[in-house]
Amino acid sequence: MVGGHLSEAAAPVVEVAALRKRYGRTLALDGIDLSIRRNEVFALLGPNGAGKTTLIHILCTLLKPDGGTARIGGFDVSRQPLKARKQLGVVFQEPSLDGRLTVQENLNFHGLVHRVPYRLRMRRIREMLELVELSEWRNALVRTLSAGMKRRVEIARALIHDSAVIILDEPTVGLDAQSRERIWTYLNKLRRERDLTLIVTTHYIDEVDGCDRVCIVDGGKVLALDTPEALRARYGKEQVRITPRDAAARSGILAQNEGAVAEPGGDVVIPGATHAVVDRLLGSFGTGISNIAIERPSLESVFLALTGREIRDTAGERPTIARPNSRSGEPVN
Ligand SMILES: Nc1ncnc2c1ncn2[C@@H]1O[C@H](COP(=O)(O)OP(=O)(O)OP(=O)(O)O)[C@@H](O)[C@H]1O
Ligand SMILES: [Mg+2]
Repeated sequence: MVGGHLSEAAAPVVEVAALRKRYGRTLALDGIDLSIRRNEVFALLGPNGAGKTTLIHILCTLLKPDGGTARIGGFDVSRQPLKARKQLGVVFQEPSLDGRLTVQENLNFHGLVHRVPYRLRMRRIREMLELVELSEWRNALVRTLSAGMKRRVEIARALIHDSAVIILDEPTVGLDAQSRERIWTYLNKLRRERDLTLIVTTHYIDEVDGCDRVCIVDGGKVLALDTPEALRARYGKEQVRITPRDAAARSGILAQNEGAVAEPGGDVVIPGATHAVVDRLLGSFGTGISNIAIERPSLESVFLALTGREIRDTAGERPTIARPNSRSGEPVN
């Protein structure tokens, strides 16, 4: 949490209670409870199908819940949808820019829809394009931009009107490491410079470390919600990282240690290993090991402890089935 007085911290900007949503036989949200404080960067982390987008669509008033409540800035999304929606800037999971328009035209149209007065609108467009480093692309047709650049335009667009809460549904999915990092740089800058609450969904575990709190969701349920540090301390396991000297040592270590994982860089990682394992490894492989260290619990180990599987199994893959009613359009008043 950045700064913040006690009274501010006490009043959550988003409150979700016992939220449920079903699509036919699929229970997408199975009683979600959470509250998000002002000015925090809040990550919703979960594998494909966890229910992240469903929750976001309910918060954006695009989808009605079957049960429970969600409030944004004190406004109930079902009973006061216009007021609730007014608090929000959204970057949807599915791209929603108009490729036939220029960058500037896309942003301007959004500002018009949200009734941002002309001078303020022009200033915001200029500032937000500067933030996402796309000023020089102002007059380019959106369809000519790269995937990463389009994502940055969508982030700029979510910031054109005044909103207290910015929701980003998988802003970095499918992007290369450099573009992903850039997007997080903008988000952190924004959070420092503007009085905003950021809600970001992702299934990249490495991204949530810098967030204030992480909510791990799976199967439509909240499995854990806390700071990355507290999650590590509570659910995480230490691991031993070994850098073998050669291929023979590497395969020997892998063969003799159940659960050992070969990393692409050549290291072998043994989750949950202890000092006793380190001693044994040094005893058996001695000179075959060029480096060995016990690492602090990773967030991967937290996820594994909570769900019994690795989030990597599904990360980066998109579901191949068509979703008949999935909406991703811009909320228009
Ligand atoms: N319009 C729809 N019709 C039917 N089932 C749906 C629809 N939208 C989502 N689902 C199902 O609801 C569950 C939750 O989906 P949701 O899109 O909320 O998950 P998610 O966490 O956003 O996943 P992803 O990481 O793939 O974006 C999944 O089982 C999904 O297949
Ligand atoms: Mg989703």
